Amino acid sequence: MPEDTFALRIFRFDPESGKDPGYQDFQVPRGGRSGGLTVLEALFYVLEHQDPGLAFRYSCREAICGSCAMYISGEWKLACQTQVGHALEGNVVTVSALPHLPVIKDLVVDMEPFWRNYEKVKPYLINDGPPPEKERLQSPEDRKGIQEMADCILCAACHSACPSGIANEDYLGPAALTKAYRFVADSRDTAREERLTLVGNEQGIFRCHTIFNCVTSCPKGINQTYSIQQMKKLVMKRNLGLQL
Ligand code: F3S
Ligand code: FES
Repeated sequence: MPEDTFALRIFRFDPESGKDPGYQDFQVPRGGRSGGLTVLEALFYVLEHQDPGLAFRYSCREAICGSCAMYISGEWKLACQTQVGHALEGNVVTVSALPHLPVIKDLVVDMEPFWRNYEKVKPYLINDGPPPEKERLQSPEDRKGIQEMADCILCAACHSACPSGIANEDYLGPAALTKAYRFVADSRDTAREERLTLVGNEQGIFRCHTIFNCVTSCPKGINQTYSIQQMKKLVMKRNLGLQL
């Protein structure tokens, strides 16, 4: 093996080929224009120089769109945010599709189970007051309280990593529940009661067993477990007839 290359070991699956799924190694030069190479750039190298049929998702290339979430050398990562040098195991970087989501082709998963659960939490602002003349204002302090949850880029890494979701595909999952809390905690939202009812059941917050995989897998450093625990407290208070 030439010294200045590494092996990019990619999970391959093409339902139209009739071949069994499996890993395939490609030799990729280290480096890149800036002296470093991201895993996404390495995938592009393979696409452009070795296999134009390789399938993977990307869009922004700067950790904003969430499209390139993958399982890289045993961890949930964004391919565009991960340096090859940080993912090497010996001289190999192993890349697979997000675990526990159906694979469409190679590194592309079917996100339907993720979006289906996400939509259940009504992931948008609800305010039953009269429409504002211009916009609904919020103080910087109130905004600060929801900033972390609002930073979620919906990459589905946490959803893929959560054992409770693996065991039950109707579990809303950490991303959807974090979004729910983002609106429960939003000073402009008036649907708090409805939202707590949507999540306060066995397919929602009470299926979370505080395993924390969501937190460790999140490429944006969001604490999904905090959101879930906050809603558990609110639902318990409500069930006891206490003031929320
Ligand atoms: Fe799953 Fe995170 Fe709860 S990994 S079980 S949602 S703490
Ligand atoms: Fe958008 Fe990686 S390409 S997050």
